[in-house]
Amino acid sequence: MAMMTPLSWKGSNVMAKDVYILAIETSCDETSMAIVKNGQEVISLVINSQIKTHEKFGGVVPEIASRMHTEAITVVLDELMQRTLLDKEQIDAIAVTYAPGLLGSLLVGLEAAKTISFVWQKPLILVDHMAGHIYANQINHTLSFPLLALVVSGGHTSLIVMPKDNEFELLGATLDDAVGECYDKVARILGMKYPGGPNVEKAALLGNNNYLLPKAMNDNSLNFSYSGLKSAMINLVHNETDRGNEINNNDLCASFQEAAVEQLINKTRLALKQNEYRELLIAGGVSANKYLQAELVKLGSEFNIPVHFPEFIYCTDNAAMIGAAAYSKYLNQDFADLDANASPQDTLFN
Ligand code: KG4
Ligand code: ZN
Repeated sequence: MAMMTPLSWKGSNVMAKDVYILAIETSCDETSMAIVKNGQEVISLVINSQIKTHEKFGGVVPEIASRMHTEAITVVLDELMQRTLLDKEQIDAIAVTYAPGLLGSLLVGLEAAKTISFVWQKPLILVDHMAGHIYANQINHTLSFPLLALVVSGGHTSLIVMPKDNEFELLGATLDDAVGECYDKVARILGMKYPGGPNVEKAALLGNNNYLLPKAMNDNSLNFSYSGLKSAMINLVHNETDRGNEINNNDLCASFQEAAVEQLINKTRLALKQNEYRELLIAGGVSANKYLQAELVKLGSEFNIPVHFPEFIYCTDNAAMIGAAAYSKYLNQDFADLDANASPQDTLFN
């Protein structure tokens, strides 16, 4: 039997006042909650990271992640409400990441959101995690449509067009590994801690592009491929170690980063040649990378198009981006029932 939303939210006057959305994000290894005003202003944000625990295993262990979300979720809610002058009466809706991600982790956030929605009598809004990453750009910034978004994270490498608010079209995506996953793998084989991206970036800053690595996929499609670069890095490290040669980690990271980013730039350039956009966005954890940001800014000036990336704290997983993405759904009264389910798969293009 389908369980329905506790009250009929439809038809209420949603335009008349400021909108405060309480958002929840638990898709991977951060238990995060935020309150976001009008999709743009972060009123309060709590991010409880599990990185210290997963670091020991060199990556996220799904069972541990969901257990830690369960332990943290009410503590994070208490802390969030303590950090704001708002009380629950002033919250207009509860938003939550429901896909994609680790199913056990997503379910903890979704169940928490349903419970709060039911007890506080607020509508429930489901948000796709990748939409959240794109909308992180809406925090303290007004999006201009149509826009092109380069989404680069641990699980995604995609070029996405938004013709208007809350509409997504996929232009291209990775055929194998995601770029963030590749950064993490490289860090691991070089003995650096998880998550590898920031550590590889730091090492790259101190090195030079001296190692020969395979050229990026240079076809005319808008798809990406990172498995060749990843294998080349693994083979290079094994061969040099076998021969007893010392590896210059900084140089190798610089060479890897240039190759990884070159592919992102080439494919984004191709997309910009094919159509006109009012804005180019970068989204997802890898958008925190300063070298990528700088290269995209250069690309933006080639095409005379503004480039935007989120503030550092909103680049990696956080609930504020979920609150930002939920705003237009709130205005459209796109509310979910309490029998909503989570999904490990992408939902943006269904
Ligand atoms: O968006 P995110 O926090 O989680 C996913 O949705 O996957 O992205 C995490 C990914 C990891 O692969 C991490 O290594 C990468 O983003 N990352 C970076 C940087 N900061 C995080 N990659 C390169 N440079 C960085 N500064
Ligand atoms: Zn993410």
